[in-house]
Amino acid sequence: MQLISGKAVSADIRQDLAEKTVEFNRQFGRVPALAVIIVGDDPASHTYVNNKIKGCAQVGFRSICQKYENGTPQEEIAAYIRSLAEDDGVDGILVQLPLPKGYDEKYLLSLIPDSKDVDGFSPTNTGLLSMNMPNTVSCTPLGVMHLLASTGVELAGKDAVVIGRSNTVGKPMAMLLLNANCTVTVCHSKTKDLASYTRKADVVVVAIGRPKFLKGDMVKDGAVVIDVGINRVDGKLVGDVDFEEVAPKCSFITPVPGGVGPMTITMLLANTLSAAKNRLS
Ligand code: GUN
Repeated sequence: MQLISGKAVSADIRQDLAEKTVEFNRQFGRVPALAVIIVGDDPASHTYVNNKIKGCAQVGFRSICQKYENGTPQEEIAAYIRSLAEDDGVDGILVQLPLPKGYDEKYLLSLIPDSKDVDGFSPTNTGLLSMNMPNTVSCTPLGVMHLLASTGVELAGKDAVVIGRSNTVGKPMAMLLLNANCTVTVCHSKTKDLASYTRKADVVVVAIGRPKFLKGDMVKDGAVVIDVGINRVDGKLVGDVDFEEVAPKCSFITPVPGGVGPMTITMLLANTLSAAKNRLS
């Protein structure tokens, strides 16, 4: 069994992004800029946002962080997103999800132009991925593809199972694996006999949000297992995979923490640089 180090893969990519940022600045006379909007006081969301802002600094990007209290009128936030959309100095706009109850997520996200949608959540960017014409791809599944590439395992022809069908992770993950010529099955909370699918899979990506959901008897020997889960149990981070049971059976597996987690923000930074280049060229 080999561990896939998201930390190491992520550090390599960030180093490369820092060098490309210097080159970008030389060419265009400014650095890429990311604007992040957060509403409310969810501690986990604030941690993610702080890490996004730190990530920007680390690779040399400019960042703007706008914090709103829960209860701020939606139209005030909408007006700000519209102003960022029109600001030529801003390359990426991200609204941290989930928004507190009462805000219309679809509406606010719809104000982000496709060219600045660094999360890859817009209907156009989602549709382009499903047509295998990817523009900006959702950060977590994109990070998983980098981790899979780092193993050197050939994906074409492999049986892949994605557990979870969210618009932000499960669905784009399935599309990316399909585009990489895997035979893809998407399982979810209503799937009957889920283990009958995972037991046959060469690659299992788990993004269901249930601590230690995937057990040892649910995977076949030699499988590659990617754990997207970030669950807090008694103050400790626990993945969706029962690592102790599953790891001995795997050829490759991601740890939690230190697996998929570090890749998500790195992909956000990569998407921001791409958006900046696309806008200026
Ligand atoms: N909340 C949890 N993950 C994400 C993400 O990738 N993007 C945004 N905008 N919000 C999130």
